[in-house]
Amino acid sequence: MEFQVPIKRLVKRAPEDVASVQVKQRGENRRSSPPPLTAALKVGWRLLQKPEYIRCFVEFQGEKELFNVLYRNARSGHANKIRQLSFRITDVCNLRCHTCCQWGDNGYLLDRKLSDLYKQEVPYERYVEMLRDIKKHGHTPLLYFWGGEPTMYKHLPDVIEEGARLGMAPTMVTNGLNIPKWADRLVEAPLAFIQLSVDGPTKEIQNYARPGADVKHDNFQDVVDSFEALYEARERKGKKLPIIGTITTVSRANYDRLVDIYERFKHRVDLFIFNLSWWIDRDSSVAHEADFEKRFGFRPGLHRGFEGEWNQFDINVLSQQVKELERRASLPGGRAVYIQPRLLEPSQLQKYYTDHNETFGYDQCISIYQCPELDSNGNLSPCRDYHDYIVGNVKETSLVELWNSPKYVEFRQSVRKDGLMPVCTRCCGLMGY
Ligand SMILES: C[S@@+](CC[C@H](N)C(=O)[O-])C[C@H]1O[C@@H](n2cnc3c(N)ncnc32)[C@H](O)[C@@H]1O
Ligand code: SF4
Ligand code: SF4
Repeated sequence: MEFQVPIKRLVKRAPEDVASVQVKQRGENRRSSPPPLTAALKVGWRLLQKPEYIRCFVEFQGEKELFNVLYRNARSGHANKIRQLSFRITDVCNLRCHTCCQWGDNGYLLDRKLSDLYKQEVPYERYVEMLRDIKKHGHTPLLYFWGGEPTMYKHLPDVIEEGARLGMAPTMVTNGLNIPKWADRLVEAPLAFIQLSVDGPTKEIQNYARPGADVKHDNFQDVVDSFEALYEARERKGKKLPIIGTITTVSRANYDRLVDIYERFKHRVDLFIFNLSWWIDRDSSVAHEADFEKRFGFRPGLHRGFEGEWNQFDINVLSQQVKELERRASLPGGRAVYIQPRLLEPSQLQKYYTDHNETFGYDQCISIYQCPELDSNGNLSPCRDYHDYIVGNVKETSLVELWNSPKYVEFRQSVRKDGLMPVCTRCCGLMGY
C-alpha cells in the first residue's frame, strides 16, 4: 500500500497509458504530459534540499521504467541493488479502518494479542546495524516506513535519522498518531516524504472510515494536527522537506467526496494521492490458495484480509470525481494529484472493481526485483501486502545475504516463469508503487 510518483514512463506497460490514449481519442484530454510526470515536477524540486535523496528516487524509478532493458535475464531470478526497503515496522495499530487487510473488517491481525505483537518486534539497534551493513555493500535504497501504525514503534525517529545520515531517503505513511510530537525531528532528519492517510474531508467521514480501537478516538483531529505541525515546523526552519502528502483509500465511505478532501487540505498539502484500493473477491481468494499451494507447497492466508464490501458504489460518480481532481490539479496553483492506478473512465473503473483478473496492462511484477518487505518480526518477504512467503529473518541473517538467497530467487523465478498469482492483480507491488 505504497506509492512513489513516476518520474517518466519509458516502458509502455501502465494503465495511465491506456487511460490517456482512450481519453485523448475522445478529445477530452489535451495535456502535453501525463499527470504522473506533472505531479513529480510539482513536488520533486523540494528534494534539492538533500541531493543524495534525488539519487535514491532516480535509481529506483529509472530502473523501474527501464526494467525490460536492464533485466534481460529476469528469469534467472537474481536481482541487482535493493531500490526500496519497506519496513512494516510494527503491526500494532490504534485504529480499525474498514478497508485495512490487517485491522479492518476481515483483518488478519484481529485475533492477535498486542503484547505478542510488541514482543516480536525487531530492536532498533538491529535496524541500525542492518542499514549500515547494506550501505557497506553498495545498497542505498529509499526507505519506506509503514505498519500497523508506524508511529507506535517508539524508536521510529531514530531509524529515520540513521537512514537519512546514510543518504537513504526515508518516506512514511501514517494515520497521524504522534506526528505533532515528532514533527521537528522529522523536518530536521529530514524525512523525504510523508503521507497522511485521509479518507474523509470531515470528522464524521474520516472517523467513520477510520474508527479507533477505542471508539472515542478522534483520528480526524490527529490528521489535522499533524498537517499543522509539519507545515509549521517546515516553515519555521525554512526547509523544503518533507514533501507533505495525503493518501486516500477510495471506498464506499468517500468515493463521492474526493474533491472535498482536496479542497479541505490543499492549503497544507503538496501532493494528493488517491488509491482506488486493493481488494479481492472470494473466487480469486480460492484460486489464489490453490495456485500458491501448487507453487510453494503451503496455503497462504493473508489475502483474505482484503475481502469486503467497501468497494461497492456508484462508478459514474467516482469517475466524475477523479476527472475533476485532475482538472483542479491542472489549474494555476493547483496541487499535485495522482490517481493510482490512473483509471478515469466509468468503463475502466467498472472493470477495476468487478473483474479481479483485469490488469490494465500491468503484466509483470517489478517490485520483487527492487523492494524487499520487512515484517515487524524481522521476517523478509518479496511481497508487500501478501507476505505469506518468507525467505528468512533479519534478526539472524544479513539482508544482503537474503536478497539473492535460493529462496528469494526461487520465488522470482516462479512469478517470472509461471506468471502472476491471482492476488497480484490488486497488489501495490504490481500497480501501486
Ligand atoms: C496499512 S496502512 C499503514 C500505515 C498507517 N497505519 C496508515 O493508516 O496510514 C497504509 C495505507 O494503506 C491504506 N489502505 C487501507 N486499506 C487499503 C486498501 N484496501 N487498499 C489500498 N490501501 C489501503 C491506508 O489507508 C493507509 O493509507
Ligand atoms: S491506521 Fe493503518 S494499519 Fe491501522 S487500521 Fe487503519 S489502515 Fe490499518
Ligand atoms: S504483484 Fe504478486 S508477486 Fe508482486 S509483490 Fe504483489 S503479490 Fe508479490
